[in-house]
Amino acid sequence: MKNLIERTRTFRRFEQDRTIDRSVLEELVNLARLGGSARNCQPWQYAIFTDADDCKKIFPYLGWAGYLSDWKGPESGEQPSAYILCILNRDWLKGSDKEAHFDLGIATQNLLLGAMEKGIGGCRIGAFSPKLTEIFKLVDHQELSLVVALGYPSEQVVLEACEEADIKYWRDGRGVHHVPKRELDEILIELGFK
Ligand SMILES: Cc1cc2nc3c(=O)[nH]c(=O)nc-3n(C[C@H](O)[C@H](O)[C@H](O)COP(=O)(O)O)c2cc1C
Repeated sequence: MKNLIERTRTFRRFEQDRTIDRSVLEELVNLARLGGSARNCQPWQYAIFTDADDCKKIFPYLGWAGYLSDWKGPESGEQPSAYILCILNRDWLKGSDKEAHFDLGIATQNLLLGAMEKGIGGCRIGAFSPKLTEIFKLVDHQELSLVVALGYPSEQVVLEACEEADIKYWRDGRGVHHVPKRELDEILIELGFK
């Protein structure tokens, strides 16, 4: 489990020509389905896209790696070969949006862990243009909230310790993506009682 969690990084460059079967993505959504849910209301629905033309329609609306200011996102040939769109069904929501978004974090982590186990990498994309919503036939109670881009990774991603609290990920001269994580002794705190 530790090894799988360590390997389940965010990937942003892929072997675009390597397609992923819809059945594989359905298996991943099935893992998302089994996650915990506040009030067990399970308010998320998922739309799968694997067709290359569909992927081309989605890609222009996505925001990639805000900290890599001189990189505009994956080039043609290294773009995702599939997407799973996460849609909030407000008719099923019983609690707050905050609870729903906790659920989505759990669900997408299940999904990405399952993907990585199959050698498939992904990137959650919250920074999509609102115009993406306009290209789909969504009804009033459906709200597009997150895009999960998927593909077979063509980049190397490594974890490292944060230096001087700098949490910005970066890419080195060989194209390796570095992800700083805070150290355990920084996040474990002694919490006193009043
Ligand atoms: C809710 C959420 C939204 C994210 N949105 C974006 C995004 O819009 N674009 C992007 O390139 N990465 C996005 N990411 C990926 C983060 O940048 C990534 O998780 C972070 O850099 C840490 O890397 P790691 O996932 O390998 O640990 C998002 C991650 C999460 C959890």
